[in-house]
Amino acid sequence: GSGSFVPAVVIGTGYGAAVSALRLGEAGIPTLMLEMGQLWNKPADDGNVFCGMLKPDRRSSWFKSRTEAPLGSFLWLDVINRDIDPYAGVLDKVHFDQMSVYVGRGVGGGSLVNGGMAVVPKRSYFEEVLPRVDAAEMYDRYFPRANSMLKVNHIDKGWFEETEWYKFARVSREQAGKAGLSTTFVPNVYDFDYMRREANGESPKSALATEVIYGNNHGKQSLDKTYLAAALGTGKVTIETLHQVKAIHQQPDGSYVLSVDQIDTAGQTVAHKEIACRHLFLGAGSLGSTELLVRARDTGALPDLNAEVGAGWGPNGNIMTGRANHVWNTTGAHQSSIPALGIDDWDNPAAPVFAEIAPMPAGLETWVSLYLAITKNPERGTFVYDKATDRAALRWTRDQNTPAVNAAKSLFDRINKANTTMYRYDLFGPQLKNFSDDFCYHPLGGCVLGKATDGYGRVAGYRNLYVTDGALIPGSIGVNPFVTITALAERNIERIIAEDVKAA
Ligand code: FDA
Repeated sequence: GSGSFVPAVVIGTGYGAAVSALRLGEAGIPTLMLEMGQLWNKPADDGNVFCGMLKPDRRSSWFKSRTEAPLGSFLWLDVINRDIDPYAGVLDKVHFDQMSVYVGRGVGGGSLVNGGMAVVPKRSYFEEVLPRVDAAEMYDRYFPRANSMLKVNHIDKGWFEETEWYKFARVSREQAGKAGLSTTFVPNVYDFDYMRREANGESPKSALATEVIYGNNHGKQSLDKTYLAAALGTGKVTIETLHQVKAIHQQPDGSYVLSVDQIDTAGQTVAHKEIACRHLFLGAGSLGSTELLVRARDTGALPDLNAEVGAGWGPNGNIMTGRANHVWNTTGAHQSSIPALGIDDWDNPAAPVFAEIAPMPAGLETWVSLYLAITKNPERGTFVYDKATDRAALRWTRDQNTPAVNAAKSLFDRINKANTTMYRYDLFGPQLKNFSDDFCYHPLGGCVLGKATDGYGRVAGYRNLYVTDGALIPGSIGVNPFVTITALAERNIERIIAEDVKAA
């Protein structure tokens, strides 16, 4: 294959990667970003870049022959998923033995498919999870920097109270209140002014047209519109798409060499490249960065990586559940796909829960109240290299999610009792199931800060090798994670540029 050298390579284009590339570019360092997914900017035949949730096509999924939506069924019927052609689509569901993980694929990573909820963790919990990180510095400087760069904004409370699009959230708030639970407004990167124009019929609908997990055609201020646009604007950063990094090794002079497969949108390999760099930043996400390092260690390519590489993984306590409302308590055929409220019971010492009040935008009345609960589950998984498949396998068993299910159950049992309602058992596939305990949206850890790396993401055992993304966070952060990933990346890259890159 062709060989080339660049001073800095960033793998991936999600939150950690985008922050790192921008700051490297601003420091004048020529930086190459390698992203396995596509750049999502060209409309297809239907005039849209992305497809909606109700009629998904091949754009929805990363090389699947059938879509794999988080809610697999309705009244136990498989009415939600569709057969599709395998394609380099935007949402992937990565299957491990007893856990599946949703991740975004494309320029912007998870920001293309996520709900945009931009939550700063409770400071006391941040200090508990990352005790060696100076919290004052984070809360005074890096969280505000992240929020401002990510264009985090707030819903107009007056509009929230009156619009049909958030009736589902008001219904859930009232029911939580009856159980003595309080809710909180959640900031978002979706432009709420744009959403109001959608509601007024002044702009094309996106959040109000069921778009979210397969991408938003409008309104969402994803990373390609914020950090990555700024990174490209420095003139120092380039992005190669459909480039998947397969392996990393080091040369005697200390530089790193990446083996990269370039694919087409049908998945055919069109080129193999070897790319060398001085400074290597892993921003391929908890799964991607961890797999690259586990593989490098266990194939002997980077033998000095320590035993913490692969350890400390968790799903942020994610549990999804649905409740069935009384027939007079309608949640609305019209629901914004962007969440705006959370039930905050994190200070409950017995079972801390922060539950996003999730929409179920079906276009018809469902009487469902849906939630993504974030719980405090102390269980952790470990990635191990599987030689036969050349993949990192996740050692995590279903029963490790029992503490998370129990915490969610204690909260939603309270809500059901106070409202004489029941769970829905028909949403998570063909069996009777009221809690999803087998998938997550918030993979965290695998290369934990201060264990697999030093206190700033420098990988232990190697110079000029860094982890920048959700792999650094030890399995739990108590809220939706991308603001924390972004702020931590801002903190780390500032130090690394000053001490390692500029000094070199
Ligand atoms: P991220 O996963 O964003 O980016 C990694 C990138 O690297 C991807 O683009 C991937 O394609 C690429 N890559 C991986 N391996 C590679 C390789 N070998 N070579 C080249 N490229 C490679 N969070 C939140 O705070 N609020 C929310 O509302 C939500 N909602 C939500 C909904 C859904 C459906 C999902 C799937 C996720 C969320 N999240 C969320 C989670 C959030 O999106 C997630 O925590 C971040 O995107 C993680 O950021 P990272 O920088 O760690 O990696």
